Amino acid sequence: MKHPFRIALAAALCLGTAHAQQHDPAMHMQHHGKSPAQKSSVQAAPKDTRQSVYFPKTLREHTLANMRDHLLALQEIQEALAKQEYDRAADIAEQRLGMSSLALHGAHDVAKYMPKGMQEAGTAMHRSASRFAVAARDVGATGDVRPALAALAATTAQCVTCHAGYRVK
Ligand code: HEC
Repeated sequence: MKHPFRIALAAALCLGTAHAQQHDPAMHMQHHGKSPAQKSSVQAAPKDTRQSVYFPKTLREHTLANMRDHLLALQEIQEALAKQEYDRAADIAEQRLGMSSLALHGAHDVAKYMPKGMQEAGTAMHRSASRFAVAARDVGATGDVRPALAALAATTAQCVTCHAGYRVK
């Protein structure tokens, strides 16, 4: 029970980030009539210790679209695991999150804007996803899904780590 719970928790945390992100513009709308100083005090209310990283606009939009696909990929992986479609779970992980996804995500363009810690979290996530893909394929032979679930939790942990440390501007 331990691992599935942790996955659900980690996924909920990722979702929480996306949710907060989506609600920022609405906050601005609500406080439309206020002065810039008041606006910034509204933004500063929740303690945000993340490092703000500059990405050029197109790259930022591209990155956030990738992020939304990361979340979709996690959802599809969990669904595939529930249906015991381990090879499908592995394919999704490898192609959309794993080392094979680096070219797809234009990782080389984006890496130069990232501080070292952010690059490392990104690399760790791609590696973990590829490890999950291997573990998921193994389930067919071993019949034990737990190593795959642990590898998926390790992957999701990298989403959490990076989100806790960085934001883009
Ligand atoms: C290397 C760092 C890093 C990793 C790893 C990472 N993200 Fe993100 N993600 C970010 C940043 C930075 C943002 C923008 C946050 C902000 O500016 O407030 C973001 C935003 C998002 C968003 C919101 C997108 C939007 O439209 O605003 C989602 C959803 C998301 N990430 C999902 C994921 C998932 C799921 C994973 C793991 C499979 C993941 N991310 C891994 C850095 C990362």
